[in-house]
Amino acid sequence: MHLGVNIDHVATLRQARYATMLESHNTEPSVLEAARAAMAGGADSITLHVREDRRHMQDADAHAVRREIPLPLNLEMGATPAMLEFALGLKPDYVCLVPERREEITTEGGLDVAGKVEELRPIVEALQANGSKASMFIDPDLAQVEASASIGALMVELHTGKFANTQGQERAAETARLVAAAKRAHALGLEVHAGHGIQVANLAELSAVPHLTELNIGHTLISRAIFIGLTPAVQEMKNAIAALQW
Ligand code: PXP
Repeated sequence: MHLGVNIDHVATLRQARYATMLESHNTEPSVLEAARAAMAGGADSITLHVREDRRHMQDADAHAVRREIPLPLNLEMGATPAMLEFALGLKPDYVCLVPERREEITTEGGLDVAGKVEELRPIVEALQANGSKASMFIDPDLAQVEASASIGALMVELHTGKFANTQGQERAAETARLVAAAKRAHALGLEVHAGHGIQVANLAELSAVPHLTELNIGHTLISRAIFIGLTPAVQEMKNAIAALQW
């Protein structure tokens, strides 16, 4: 099981103070330093979301991480022509297409691949022809899984937000949906990742989902890093993942 560490919140904190003076000598915290700290803790890949409005991660952050960090880079982005051009220049190892605008979001919050097949297919083809494996961030919904396979994506990232935010019977039902979606994705030859709201406290339940090869985790690691530092926070998560049967 690989751990992808999402360091977007480091950029969020930097922008809160220094958005208008990114080149200043005193700008902090450093995204690159965060990527290095995550790598030191055992991160298997680094995830960055460069948003269309550049509200957190900047183009220069993505290029610096690509250049300096010898780990696979997973770029999250909206499926737009401008972001495609950016990704073609950056050449990350993977690109995860995510919804950024209201109309691209399904009821649960994943990308509506099934409703955008013709729009997404050429983006997936262009990314993969350029050496970046395409992943679709989707709800655990069979129609979305099948649509992702039909446009040639090599990976799906199952949205675990509802799983994370519910308890009891609702969580059990959502876990069952994740299990079914992961099985279908695997049967269709897709690599299966999961992300959003994953924490040490919900890992054991998540380990019931078969075929997962990577977890993408951000918020809880940065939250924990406030108190113990990012390298130990990543180590703690790696240990918790390693203690379970996947
Ligand atoms: N995967 C994707 C596609 C995301 O957009 C995010 C951030 O929301 C994550 C994983 C990480 O989620 P979290 O920060 O809740 O761990």
